[in-house]
Amino acid sequence: MNIKIGGIGAYLPKLVVTNDRISEFVTTNDEWIVERTGIKERRISEGENTSQIAIKASSVALKRAGIKGEDLDLIIVATITPDMFMPSVACLVQKELNADNAAAFDINVACSGFVYALETANSLMKSLNYKNALVIGAETLSKVVDWTDRSTCILFGDGAGAAVLVNDEKKGIINSYLKTEGKKGDSLTIGALEFNTPFTKEKSETKQYVEMNGREVFKFATSAIIKAIDGVLENTDVSLEDIKYIVPHQANVRILDYVARKLNLDINKFYLNLDKVGNTSSASVPLALNEMYEKNMLNDGDKILLVAFGGGLSYGATLLEW
Ligand code: UT7
Repeated sequence: MNIKIGGIGAYLPKLVVTNDRISEFVTTNDEWIVERTGIKERRISEGENTSQIAIKASSVALKRAGIKGEDLDLIIVATITPDMFMPSVACLVQKELNADNAAAFDINVACSGFVYALETANSLMKSLNYKNALVIGAETLSKVVDWTDRSTCILFGDGAGAAVLVNDEKKGIINSYLKTEGKKGDSLTIGALEFNTPFTKEKSETKQYVEMNGREVFKFATSAIIKAIDGVLENTDVSLEDIKYIVPHQANVRILDYVARKLNLDINKFYLNLDKVGNTSSASVPLALNEMYEKNMLNDGDKILLVAFGGGLSYGATLLEW
C-alpha cells in the first residue's frame, strides 16, 4: 500500500506588504531586497492566528480530497509559531473540523517541518493502518519577527498549506530523507520563555524573535539541499532526470540559483513563488504545491521532489509520484 496526496489546499492572509511598505519603518529599499533575496512582497496576518489559517487551508484540501473532518485518522501540523504552547495547533484544527476520530499533534522542525510531517504521517498511516491523514504547514512568522531588524524582517511571510494523505494501490510517496545538525542550531533561533521563578539563580533575557546568522544559514542551505536531493534519490530507481519539478523551501532565490547551477539543472525545474510570499517556513512547500495544482501543473505519474532546510539546523526531502 502506498500513501499519496489526495487533496491539497492553501490559505494566505489578505494583507499584501510590499518592500516599499517595509522601507517606511526600517532603512532598506525594494532594489536591495529584490536583488539579494528575490522577494517583492509577502502576506502578513492582521491578527488571524496559525490555527485559523491552518483551518482555512485544510478545508480546501479536504474538499478537494472529497472527505470530511470525521474521516481523518491523523492530523499533524508543522509549525514554529503555534497559537499557544497547549493545546497544539493540530488539536485546535481537530476541534474546528470535527475530526473527532483523529490523533492530532504538532511537530517543530522549522522550515523543514512539512517534509518531516509528511514522512511522519506516511509511516504512521502504514504502521497503524490509517486511511486518511491531514498534514499542514502553517506559520504566522510576523509574530516572531523583530520589525526593527532589517536583516530579518524583510524575509518572512505568513501562510498555510495543507495536504490530505490517502491510501493508493500504485503510487504516492516513494522515499524520504531526513537529517538534522543540532550543533549548528545557534545560527537560526527564536527564544522562548525565560526562567523567572522563586528558585531561579540567575535571571536571563531571551529575545523571543528570529535571530539569524544569514551567511552561515545560506552556506548550510546550499549544501543541505544538494545532500537531501542526492539522499532521497539514493536506493530508488528514480534519477534526477526523471523529476518533473523540484518544490523547494524558499528562503532566498540566490540559494536556489546556486543549487541549480551546481546540479546543472534548469532553474525552471524549481517551482518558485517567493517573490509573492517571502519565506513562509513550514508553509512554503505546500503553498507552492497548491499553486502548482491550481495551475494544472501536476499530472498523474509526475515524479515530484520536495526539499526543505531550516532551523535546527534541519533538512530533508520527499520523493513522490503524483
Ligand atoms: O528559512 C530559514 C533559512 N534562512 C535562510 O536561508 C536565509 C539565508 N541567508 C540569506 O538569505 C542572506 O544571508 C540574507 C538575505 C539574510 C542577507 O544577504 P547577504 O547578501 O548575506 O547580506 P549580508 O548579511 O552579508 O549584508 C550585506 C550588507 C550589510 O551592510 P555592510 O555591512 O556591508 O555595510 C548589511 O547591513 O547589506 C546590509 N543589509 C541591508 N541593506 C539594505 C542587510 N539587510 C539589509 C536590508 N536592506 N534589508
